[in-house]
Amino acid sequence: MQALQAFLAADMQRVDAVIRSRLRSEVVLVNQVAEYIIDSGGKRLRPALVLLTAGAMGFDGEASHVLAAVIEFIHTATLLHDDVVDESDLRRGRDTANALFGNAASVLVGDFLYSRAFQMMVELGQMRVMQILSDATNIIAEGEVLQLMNCHNADINEQDYLHVIRYKTAKLFEAAARLGAILGGVDVGQEQAFAAYGMHLGTAFQLIDDVLDYSGDMSEIGKNLGDDLAEGKPTLPLLYVLQQGDASQSALVRSAIEHGGLQQFDAILTAVRTSGALDYTRQRAQEESQRALSMLSDVPDSPYRQHLVNLAQFAVDRSF
Ligand code: IPE
Ligand code: IPE
Ligand code: MG
Ligand code: MG
Repeated sequence: MQALQAFLAADMQRVDAVIRSRLRSEVVLVNQVAEYIIDSGGKRLRPALVLLTAGAMGFDGEASHVLAAVIEFIHTATLLHDDVVDESDLRRGRDTANALFGNAASVLVGDFLYSRAFQMMVELGQMRVMQILSDATNIIAEGEVLQLMNCHNADINEQDYLHVIRYKTAKLFEAAARLGAILGGVDVGQEQAFAAYGMHLGTAFQLIDDVLDYSGDMSEIGKNLGDDLAEGKPTLPLLYVLQQGDASQSALVRSAIEHGGLQQFDAILTAVRTSGALDYTRQRAQEESQRALSMLSDVPDSPYRQHLVNLAQFAVDRSF
């Protein structure tokens, strides 16, 4: 991560300048909420993906900074809405915007960020870019709704789970990688390969996010542990215990998914950690990461490509 940040430092400064200038509004509360969540930081992985894929294909213009900012705005909007839906109170090591400003302000400023992102992409004047980002935004919304429908359902299978995370998370990684590649003027086959790289990377990233919800260090991930369990979200670690745990572990997890809440958190943690569920989920993430890597075979060697390779491993090894 540090090497990536150093490599992209100059570009990220320009992305940041775009973010700062386009965040502004005449409405005081919009500025307060939007600046609050942006100032909290974040890994900026999705903008990095735009810059790396564009750079890997030799693009060196201002549009990559604008698109990187657009992608980060869309990501930030999803976080504002997601924390309301998930009733989360910690994000990026600080109180969530909903905890501090309330649900209404979070939802409405999320709308501001979405629509600002759309203004910016229209200014770029490329129909293909608008198509990719409007499709991605729509799929993310479907993913979040699908997940809502699956909440408290202990009978979903791994395929159903993968479907949700491809939609809610991997789609934006896919869009980021595809857009950078398009800026670099790739042909259709290469565009598809970059898109698939982003999709597999994003899938690995969310699989590990779901591992960290049971095994992470709160101060490192900047979020509370157990958020998924609290809302009865059937993520892969729990699905594994349902299938492979002993009868009492399986019954415990079923009840936790069906009723939500953190009353049994310690017992569930033990079941998740002793059943091999986390290793299984990490293994699935490693496979996704491997698939992401295999998509880079035709990309010419360069520092950009090397950082794309490293990013695929970071998605699996990360602790934050
Ligand atoms: C959080 O994404 C939402 C998920 C898809 C898990 P990140 O972990 O990239 O969030 P920030 O931007 O670094 O805070
Ligand atoms: C992340 O959802 C995906 C989106 C924000 C669209 P999660 O609910 O799994 O992620 P965290 O744990 O809140 O970051
Ligand atoms: Mg959440
Ligand atoms: Mg969520």
